[in-house]
Amino acid sequence: MKILVTGGAGYIGSHTVVELLSAGHDVVVLDNYCNSSAVALQRVEQIVAGTVAGKAGKAGVLQAVEADIRDRAALDAVFGAHAFDGVIHFAGLKAVGESVSKPLEYYENNVGGSITLCQAMQAAGVFKLVFSSSATVYGEDAPVPYVETLPRGKTSNPYGSSKSMVEQLLTDLCSSGSDLQASNWSVSLLRYFNPIGAHPSGFIGEDPQGIPNNLMPYIAQVAIGRRAELAIFGSDYPTLDGTCQRDYLHVVDLAKGHLRALEALTQPGVKAYNLGTGQACSVLEMVRAFEQASGRPVPYSFAPRRAGDLPAFWADASKAAAELGWTAELGLDQMMADTWRWQSMNPEGYSEDGSCKP
Ligand code: NAD
Ligand code: WQD
Repeated sequence: MKILVTGGAGYIGSHTVVELLSAGHDVVVLDNYCNSSAVALQRVEQIVAGTVAGKAGKAGVLQAVEADIRDRAALDAVFGAHAFDGVIHFAGLKAVGESVSKPLEYYENNVGGSITLCQAMQAAGVFKLVFSSSATVYGEDAPVPYVETLPRGKTSNPYGSSKSMVEQLLTDLCSSGSDLQASNWSVSLLRYFNPIGAHPSGFIGEDPQGIPNNLMPYIAQVAIGRRAELAIFGSDYPTLDGTCQRDYLHVVDLAKGHLRALEALTQPGVKAYNLGTGQACSVLEMVRAFEQASGRPVPYSFAPRRAGDLPAFWADASKAAAELGWTAELGLDQMMADTWRWQSMNPEGYSEDGSCKP
């Protein structure tokens, strides 16, 4: 297949491009690099050259286009130059706190950008789409574990609302047919839980700009000495140790889920899938697991609760297992070991010259 990957230079996108190329698919990445580096794609090529060389299969070809998903003319040019079998749509803004202070930017990029992308796809006759959604669409009041039969809930920030809106617009597209002609659209809404970890090579991983918002990169930066200590937001939640629990999954497992979802787009219609492990882990458990994997101490102190955090949620991941044949295979130890390898090989993230020293 030939696949357009929007946001393919980013954290989850780059890991997915490795899996696509390794499986022999050709990939065009479209990214404006607003939260990523073209160096990530050089590293992807290095990984694929290393892992696929000598194996029976032939790796796919990677091309990159620097463009914005809100730029219709640029999208038309890309669709005009390639015959795509489908699109995996990662591009968007993802910082929850920033979305509260900059709602217009979030709706413009995430919702407006998705509309422009769908318009360009429709004009080009490409109707298969895998969309990066989030467990956040279940909202604040959903019972755990989250299961796909639950309705989308009340979201607590513009980022979450933008994901819900795009899910709704894609659902509407899939039912936009008439009595005479059914809709051609075939869409998979992938609801990620908490992706962490890095490629086992240590060549690609999560490279947040500025102070990390998320737990795993923060812990990794404390361990490498870039930050003094972790502030744990809340110690009085109704959980086993008082800290919040989440369903953390390895980004390589998550990347593989995209291939399964793409292959399953054989019929028109929309389907939502949870991608998680089905197990929850507390912040303190994460700290201990990271210390064990890295051999480094992770100093922490308790801080007040962070606004908007839910005590605990995790996935019912049985639908993806039954319908996509996908289950998360990599455990917490592997997530921690791979995060540490990425962090220690790239203490400052992607370097400008693209080098990576094992
Ligand atoms: P990321 O920021 O690393 O990747 C997003 C990529 O999209 C970046 O390379 C960025 O430069 C690009 N981009 C942003 N706006 C763009 C635009 N207008 N045009 C072109 N490119 C643009 O984020 P990620 O963690 O890899 O997340 C990928 C997707 O998954 C996002 O849509 C995110 O909302 C969603 N998601 C992420 C998580 C998570 O915890 N990381 C969880 C659930 C859902
Ligand atoms: C995990 C736990 C924090 C940082 C977010 C988005 C969600 C999805 C994934 C995109 C929480 C605690 C964190 C720190 C801490 N993204 N924490 N100290 O909030 O579950 O999910 O990322 O779709 O939409 O909301 O992940 O990694 O930020 O936090 O104690 O410095 O770690 O309070 O309990 P979260 P996270």
